[in-house]
Amino acid sequence: MPVNVVSATLRGGLFTRVVGKRLIFFQEIPSTMDEASRLAQEGADEGTVVVAGTQTAGRGRQGRNWLSRQGNLYLSIIFRPTLEVLPMLSILAGVAAVRAIRKTTRLEPGIKWPNDIMLGGKKTGGILVESVVQGDQVSQAILGIGLNVGLDAQNEGQIATLATAINLESGRTVPPEDVLRQLLHDLDNLYIQSTHGGSPLPEWEAMLETLGQPIEATWRNEVFTGLAEGIDDLGNLQLRLEDGQLMTLTAGDVSLNSRAAGAATQSHTP
Ligand code: BTN
Repeated sequence: MPVNVVSATLRGGLFTRVVGKRLIFFQEIPSTMDEASRLAQEGADEGTVVVAGTQTAGRGRQGRNWLSRQGNLYLSIIFRPTLEVLPMLSILAGVAAVRAIRKTTRLEPGIKWPNDIMLGGKKTGGILVESVVQGDQVSQAILGIGLNVGLDAQNEGQIATLATAINLESGRTVPPEDVLRQLLHDLDNLYIQSTHGGSPLPEWEAMLETLGQPIEATWRNEVFTGLAEGIDDLGNLQLRLEDGQLMTLTAGDVSLNSRAAGAATQSHTP
């Protein structure tokens, strides 16, 4: 039975205008994505946040599983953005996640394109956006964020070499609710700014570890190698191929490996 408890501690220190106006906590849930989507269909307000202690069917990009042990952050937020802001949601979340980790730990995370949150070259967080668009209206966009805070990544078999966690990297125990509060605060500011024409792209670009790196991109079973040269105004990655052509990669169906560091893709597979 899911326990639906509102965390007074978190709400007490949270002064946001949209994101987190309503917070719903579950001890255990299959996936916060599904619960947020269900609530959105019922008409829940934009900014409603579903947080889970653990997920039994957490999912990542490209149909991967997302390992969801206790002691980490798993949340999904309901948005109803314009079509212009929709492609920015995952970028806003990346910027907010990096800022939140910086502010609560003084660590310096980076982003592996499109939106893996990285610490010390390993993945510590991921972002997923699932949206329903009808005509020129976004009826719902669910932004999912998973951050490894207390994960004992070194003992996680398959992903041990690819994943890390905030506590592991900072050498101290960071309360997940501190990271969450900061994350929601920054996301709220960034989202409101974006609805008034502000762009998160310059800040996001500066966080992208991928730029300037030799990479290998897999798209529809074909492998393309080249240099990650830049991003366009939608956050797509521009890859300079070995024959000199410029290829634009969109986040949805591309997976990336750094050729310098070997396979750096981390999917949380239990
Ligand atoms: C990725 O593949 O990098 C994205 C991972 C997104 C995981 C989060 S955890 C909270 C939310 N609920 C899910 O089932 N997935 C997202």
